[in-house]
Amino acid sequence: MDGSKKWGIIGPGKIAAKFAAALALTEGAELVAVASRSGERAREFAAKFGASRSFDHYWKLAAAPDIDAIYIATPHGFHCEHALLCLKHRKAVLCEKPMALSNRQVQEMVSASQDNKTFLMEAMWTRFLPLTGKLLELIGEGKIGKLKYVRADFGFAPPFNPEGRLYNKELGGGSLLDIGVYPLFLCQLLMGEPSRIMATAQLAPTGTDDSCVATLHYPDGGLAIMTSLYSCQTSITAEIAGTEGIIHIPTPWYKNDRLTLYRRGQEAEDFQFEPMVNGFEYQIRETLRCLDEGLIESPYLSHAFSLSMSRVMDAIRKQCGVYYPGE
Ligand SMILES: NC(=O)c1ccc[n+]([C@@H]2O[C@H](COP(=O)([O-])OP(=O)(O)OC[C@H]3O[C@@H](n4cnc5c(N)ncnc54)[C@H](OP(=O)(O)O)[C@@H]3O)[C@@H](O)[C@H]2O)c1
Repeated sequence: MDGSKKWGIIGPGKIAAKFAAALALTEGAELVAVASRSGERAREFAAKFGASRSFDHYWKLAAAPDIDAIYIATPHGFHCEHALLCLKHRKAVLCEKPMALSNRQVQEMVSASQDNKTFLMEAMWTRFLPLTGKLLELIGEGKIGKLKYVRADFGFAPPFNPEGRLYNKELGGGSLLDIGVYPLFLCQLLMGEPSRIMATAQLAPTGTDDSCVATLHYPDGGLAIMTSLYSCQTSITAEIAGTEGIIHIPTPWYKNDRLTLYRRGQEAEDFQFEPMVNGFEYQIRETLRCLDEGLIESPYLSHAFSLSMSRVMDAIRKQCGVYYPGE
């Protein structure tokens, strides 16, 4: 596999398995090492996905000399710590979403990327799906006129487990950071950073947000509504409306391969995109492209974008009374 980038994974849990499956089918990349807090889990995961090496400590992977890039798949309470560890050893980092718990942590990570001249990107994979490219193209071409409104939701009903990463504050629990990050990403991508935010949440017994709703107001009069819920399944759809039309992304909007354009006075137009491996392949390809070009950030999902997202999430959490340890 000459010229292929050597990848490692930190935190071989649920999402790491999905990533490894996509990596295996991506040209120019190979999984060579896996690091877990347990040597046995690392060995099992490495064997399952064909990695030749496994480590029983995360730092051993970060320090391994022949690794080009590391995918961080630990709960978000640890993203900052693990990204700093990798960046210090000048390993490119693709870090699961949300980039970190707070804007302060994201700032630390971005500084480490800049100081070490090493690539860092939030694994907000939806950004790189063909659907998102088409959405930006349609809006850019003025197909729905002037953009006025975005609405997106993400809700499901996991069992309440105060120890698990969805509810445990130490692990970065809460619906906003876990799934609200998707609707927020869409609002941010299409509308930019809001000038005014009004947010409210229902808190779980652990003090994390069980559900969260935010209205985002933009300087040009645009409005967005984002919803994240752990209390029930929602439609998981997105609607983007302008002065001349509407774009509707059916469920599940954040990983779909089709959308519909409704222009005033015209027939609805459906767009269908190529079949995906599992959707993660596009962000891997973008990481490889950036590494080939010697970039430390992707122009399509920049450090500034992740900083802005984390600033907005901080503001939403503050209004909802959700704080993480150390804040
Ligand atoms: N992009 C997506 O579609 C998507 C979907 C789901 C989740 N995510 C993100 O991916 C990250 C991981 O989510 P996940 O569902 O894969 O989590 P998970 O399976 O619960 O945990 C991932 C791994 O993190 C490691 N870990 C390190 N410290 C831990 C601690 N104190 N408690 C529990 N685990 C710890 C564990 O591996 P070892 O102990 O073996 O090292 C664990 O297997 C989260 O930030 C989440 O937001 C992204």
